[in-house]
Amino acid sequence: MKYYLTTPIYYVNAAPHIGHTYTTIVADAIRRFKRMQGYDAVLTTGTDEHGQKVERAARAAGKTPQEFTDLIAAEFRKQWEMLGLGIDRFMRTSDPRHHAVVRMLFERCLKNGYIYKGAYTGPYCVYDELYVGDAKPGDPCPDCRRPMETVTEENLFFKLSAFQERLLELYEAQPEFIQPETRRNEVISFVRQGLSDLSISRTTIKWGIPVPGEDRHVFYVWFDALTTYMSAVAGEERWPADLHLIGKEILRFHAIYWPAFLMAAELPLPKQIFAHGWLLFEQDKMSKSRGNIVRAEPIRRVMGADALRYFLMREVVFGQDGSFSYDALVGRYNSDLANGLGNLVSRTLTMINQYCGGAAPRSHGDAGIAQVARETIGAAVAAFDNFEFSKALETVWALLSAVDKFIVSRVPWTLARDQSPPARVRLEETLYTAAEVLRIAAVLLAPVLPESARKIWGQLGMAGSPEDVRLQDLAWGQLPAGQTMGTVRAVFPRVEEKPAIDKMRALEKEETARQSALLLGKPPAEPAAPQEGGKITIEDFAKVDMRVGLVLSAEAVKGADKLLHLKVDIGEAEPRSIVAGIAEAYRPEQVTGRKVVIVANLQPRKLRGIPSDGMIVAASPEGGQPVLVGFLEDAPIGTRLT
Ligand code: MSP
Repeated sequence: MKYYLTTPIYYVNAAPHIGHTYTTIVADAIRRFKRMQGYDAVLTTGTDEHGQKVERAARAAGKTPQEFTDLIAAEFRKQWEMLGLGIDRFMRTSDPRHHAVVRMLFERCLKNGYIYKGAYTGPYCVYDELYVGDAKPGDPCPDCRRPMETVTEENLFFKLSAFQERLLELYEAQPEFIQPETRRNEVISFVRQGLSDLSISRTTIKWGIPVPGEDRHVFYVWFDALTTYMSAVAGEERWPADLHLIGKEILRFHAIYWPAFLMAAELPLPKQIFAHGWLLFEQDKMSKSRGNIVRAEPIRRVMGADALRYFLMREVVFGQDGSFSYDALVGRYNSDLANGLGNLVSRTLTMINQYCGGAAPRSHGDAGIAQVARETIGAAVAAFDNFEFSKALETVWALLSAVDKFIVSRVPWTLARDQSPPARVRLEETLYTAAEVLRIAAVLLAPVLPESARKIWGQLGMAGSPEDVRLQDLAWGQLPAGQTMGTVRAVFPRVEEKPAIDKMRALEKEETARQSALLLGKPPAEPAAPQEGGKITIEDFAKVDMRVGLVLSAEAVKGADKLLHLKVDIGEAEPRSIVAGIAEAYRPEQVTGRKVVIVANLQPRKLRGIPSDGMIVAASPEGGQPVLVGFLEDAPIGTRLT
């Protein structure tokens, strides 16, 4: 029995953060769960490497696109390895094996009459490589809000409009094709409004897969990217995929374009698309452009990978948006893992050591708890099967708290002092019940907490790994009586909140600097020395690091008439926060989307409590208002002024 699942392939113009980690962790948990159900489960992830954004990021790093993508793709791989994720296939869109499959898909669509040549004139967002046919001149890009350009391009078009009925039939015939239900309804109402044909080639970009038979055309990134799901398993008889796991913002590409391409090519369709919600940080989607990114590595180093996995799968209802914060992470860890599960493990094993010589007690356990455990197995597996991870975890925790109460009610420490045979039987029954619940919990939790479940398994004296157990075979009473327990060690040591959070924040800063350096191809700039008066040398001038930046957002600073607070993208992992004295000359909406020049290596400081990391360059006429420096021709973000 095969099961094939995928995550999105991630863009390489940014380094991974816990938004990407979230999808990949969930995919890893599903893969483990499916394997425990006996499936030969394979997980694909990878990197989306083509297009203008990457071309531009590579240029800012002083590298060729290939060199740059090699570096960032390796960074993604490394992150997944460090988190212990079971990635079976890692496909890069720059891989020639992938190119061959994209060409095959195209040729089949062409042969079946779904490709034609046309011209497009209208607004185009360079950043998103998006034609926005229904926008008015001067409208910002609907996705990134940046200004758009008007272009005329000869393109190859895909006859998406021909698939409206067939797509609606698909959604109707296979209600599980798009999950959750609310997302399915959104797609259905979108498709019902009618579909326009889709331009699937670009002549403005070089870094992409050449379209066969067409000079200068490369494939549009989504035609290229979606196909990795197939190319990753080319020649393996694994297609179609059972599940594409994605974030909700890329649902239309997956639920509309992708099945339409495959229908046109007469290839099998994936069975299910699950669009999960966003991880929010202080109510905003975590993203590079908003500058509110958290990375997984500092969390792994301070709290362990399982703590992050548990938090993401327990705290966030899968399918809905959820918030991340360090406080909530540490809070959940201490209450559910350290005080909850961890405490139950150490109490149970310590008592077995003290009262039973470290051997599993001889008993069938308590019938009442055995029944709760049987129901828990059924309910947790069913919840997992429905991707209701937080519900599955709650179910297991209900069993843990039932056994906690049971232990307290049995007062084993009193029973242990009583030498009578009935007291001994009751003591052994109590401790067997606790240990057997832990064994069952270790199996049920293994997809979410693989490392910790293995530790608990070993401490119970079980051989191998809980992931070797087939879920269908899991039943009450399988802890072998008399089995020697392992060494007791804290599985989830308690964490002191403040030092742990401080440490994670400090490591986060280091990680941000490391990733920025990686993306920019050099260590972050050193602050320049203060200038003396008089003439300066070229070396002196070179100390001032001036960069082209794009203003992503601007807002007035409360109580300061002259100040605007800007977020400026200069090609670093996060945009700069800059407070500029230009509010009398510019309204926020006049500067948003503008290219500006900033001095990038000024000592950061705070203005009105807002961090300002850099300075906007403007002409400052005597007694007049500042005039922002700009360019007549386009200059790429991050370019240095020399
Ligand atoms: N390259 C495209 C996907 C092509 S798939 C054929 C892309 N890449 S991305 O790097 O922007 O990654 C998007 C995916 O990362 C989301 O769909 C989601 O899986 C994950 N996430 C990124 N930020 C996220 C959050 N803040 N919260 C949850 N998931 C997020 O789009």
